[in-house]
Amino acid sequence: MPCKLAAGNWKMNGLRADLDEMRALIAAHPDPDCGMLICPPATLLAPMADLAQGSRLLVGGQDCHTAKSGAHTGDLSADMLADAGARHVILGHSERRADHGEGSDLVAAKARAAQEAGLTAIICVGETEAERDAGTTLEVVLGQLRESVPDGSNAGNTVIAYEPVWAIGTGRTPTLEQIAEVHDALRAAVPDAEMSLLYGGSVKPGNAADIFALANVDGALVGGASLKASDFGAIIAALDAA
Ligand code: PGA
Repeated sequence: MPCKLAAGNWKMNGLRADLDEMRALIAAHPDPDCGMLICPPATLLAPMADLAQGSRLLVGGQDCHTAKSGAHTGDLSADMLADAGARHVILGHSERRADHGEGSDLVAAKARAAQEAGLTAIICVGETEAERDAGTTLEVVLGQLRESVPDGSNAGNTVIAYEPVWAIGTGRTPTLEQIAEVHDALRAAVPDAEMSLLYGGSVKPGNAADIFALANVDGALVGGASLKASDFGAIIAALDAA
C-alpha cells in the first residue's frame, strides 16, 4: 500500500512567530495515521525541525541544488537540507518551473541529488490551463513524469504530486473525475506501484474528504491551507478518515 501523506508547502511565507502554528498542529494531532509534513522556507527549516523533535511532524525543503556543495550563491544542497533536519524536498513545483525556468531534466538531476542525500523527493507534475483546454493533460503530465523521475526511484525515496497549474492558489479545482483520470494514469505509469500520489491545488478542509476518497489519491500537497494549524489539521483528519 502507498503511504498516506499530508504535505504542506509554505512557499515564501512564514516568520519565526508562525512556528506557533506548528506547536498547535502537533498538540492537536500528536499521532496521525498519515505522514504529516511541512516544507517551510529554508530560514525556518532548522527551528521547525527542532520543535518537531519527538513529535510526528516531518519537515522538508522546497528545492535543492544538484551539487553537494560549491560556488552556487544563494542555493542549498540536499545534504544541507538533511543536515538541517529535512526528510523530504519538493522538486519541480510549477512555480519553480515557471519562475526559474526549471525543466524536467534539471528536476530529475535534483531528485537524484535529493535521493542520494537520503531525502524523499516530492516531484511535481501538472498541466497549464491552456494544455488542459487543448486536451493534452495526460500527455503533458505523463511526459513530465517520464522526464522528471530519475532511474532508481522507488516508493521509499520518491512521491509524485499532481498539481494542475491553474488550480494552484486559485480556489479552483478539477472535478473529481478529472483528478481520478490523471491519478489512475499516474498509477499505471510510475516505476513503483507503491509510490504515493498526492493531489495539489486549492485543497481545503471543505474539499479534502472527497478528493481523498478517490482510489489513487494517497494524500495532498497543500499550499495556502497549510499555513494555519486548524485548516491543515482538518485536512490531516480527512486523510486519516479516508
Ligand atoms: P494551494 O497550493 O494549496 O495554495 O493551491 C498548492 C501548491 O502549490 O503546492
